[in-house]
Amino acid sequence: MSSTAIETFDLTRYYNTIPAVDKISFQVQAGTVFGLLGPNGAGKSTTIKMLTTLLPVTSGTASIMGYDLVHDPAMIRQRIGYVPQLLSADGDLTGYENLVLSAKLYGLSRSSQSQRIREVLEFMGLEAYAHRLVSQYSGGMIRKLEIAQGVLHNPAILFLDEPTIGLDPMARKTLWERIQEWRKNFKTTILLTTHDMDEADRLCDVVAFMHLGKIVVLDTPAKLKATVGPHANLDDVFMRYTGTSVNPSEYQNVKQTRRTISHLD
Ligand SMILES: Nc1ncnc2c1ncn2[C@@H]1O[C@H](COP(=O)(O)OP(=O)(O)OP(=O)(O)O)[C@@H](O)[C@H]1O
Ligand SMILES: [Mg+2]
Repeated sequence: MSSTAIETFDLTRYYNTIPAVDKISFQVQAGTVFGLLGPNGAGKSTTIKMLTTLLPVTSGTASIMGYDLVHDPAMIRQRIGYVPQLLSADGDLTGYENLVLSAKLYGLSRSSQSQRIREVLEFMGLEAYAHRLVSQYSGGMIRKLEIAQGVLHNPAILFLDEPTIGLDPMARKTLWERIQEWRKNFKTTILLTTHDMDEADRLCDVVAFMHLGKIVVLDTPAKLKATVGPHANLDDVFMRYTGTSVNPSEYQNVKQTRRTISHLD
């Protein structure tokens, strides 16, 4: 029997007078992979930051594993893992030391800490690099480490904000194999964002397209493609429902990303 892992109710976040996320309501079934898609600035990261309790909501709420976002944030934090869009691992520390920090953050006992760290390092194929400084890791290794940090406490829900951003196709593929294997073994619910529509099509059970803070359409990739045409791919769906192309001009892309980054400083 399926159960609901995430449910949002008119979830809204304003920045000054601008609604970055505007009354969105959706459900994610436990054990599924849910993709939040849409152009730069659509509101995907803002949604994730609210659902992970890092950003207060302006109005509305959500239920995460049955706990209310506004009233029970501490219960939610124990049950989720989060890998942010921007670099989160500390380059001045080794991979192992980064994991020790996460273990402390999640309150893992000293006795279980080293065993769990060994397990996640092995799972992500990082054992050989555990004692190297993260500043010497490749982009793919850093992302694997950050995911290892996010799953160290075996969360029921894993939030991945553009986990494969900037990775080459090979690193992307290995990373996804690891994430899918993790999900299969532990029945983790995954909510992810990506700009790679192929990736979304292959990995997600359900996708929601966001545009200007609203969810404009939500369904399985197969059903959404069928609404556009017999040979449509998810890029076509993206264009149809958000009115923008998947690859905006590089300038627009960079401008938006930098604007977002400067907000996070
Ligand atoms: N701290 C902030 N202060 C003011 N505006 C913000 C802040 N963070 C985000 N925004 C704005 O909110 C809107 C949604 O941003 P968000 O980062 O959620 O988009 P996104 O869908 O994750 O985009 P991307 O695909 O570029 O990561 C954008 O217009 C952005 O400029
Ligand atoms: Mg984002």
